[in-house]
Amino acid sequence: MDHAQGGLVESTGSEGLLRLLRERSVVRRYTMEPVDDALLDRLLDVMVTAPTAANKQAWGFMAVRDPRSVRRLRAFAPGMIGLPPLVVVACFDRARATRDDSVPWDAGMLCVAMAVENLLLAAHAEGLGGCPVGSFRRVAVQQLLGLPPHLEPLLLVALGRPARALEPTRRRPREEVIRYETWS
Ligand SMILES: Cc1cc2nc3c(=O)[nH]c(=O)nc-3n(C[C@H](O)[C@H](O)[C@H](O)COP(=O)(O)O)c2cc1C
Repeated sequence: MDHAQGGLVESTGSEGLLRLLRERSVVRRYTMEPVDDALLDRLLDVMVTAPTAANKQAWGFMAVRDPRSVRRLRAFAPGMIGLPPLVVVACFDRARATRDDSVPWDAGMLCVAMAVENLLLAAHAEGLGGCPVGSFRRVAVQQLLGLPPHLEPLLLVALGRPARALEPTRRRPREEVIRYETWS
């Protein structure tokens, strides 16, 4: 698609896209309507188009829909409030990580976060809602899912049709968090 010639904006409508970004908010209660294969594929396709440092794609993802497996995962995740029909386990792949001493953090972890944001936005566009869950027992989840040692689960992303209307989440005032040119 030729962004320079306005193709992207024409095909999606910039207003629609911006509204989608603004509207998304965390969803913690779900109906048990299953997420079918076609919808899951669309979500996962968008997820892995996220920016990734040096295009290393130092990530791995597991989609879990079997209700028994979801319940087991949730048992190790105090941060997962409602029971979702789908959990995407987002992992950092240490074996593929960029080793760059000039960067004080593992860039791959940021890439996983970007992929999760893509996933949440795609879900919202499809009428689903989701919650990234960081509060879970890593070792237990790693063992439960049979993850190899180099795949470190960072977030469990709970996804499903929202059981309630979305509510906007309050943000800090813009002037407190955004400055122009210099901070002071
Ligand atoms: C890294 C990360 C970890 C999170 N962990 C949890 C969690 O364990 N349980 C939970 O209910 N929400 C969790 N959240 C969701 C946040 O609470 C939520 O995104 C935040 O309140 C802002 O709301 P919004 O997503 O509607 O903008 C997490 C979000 C992020 C980014």
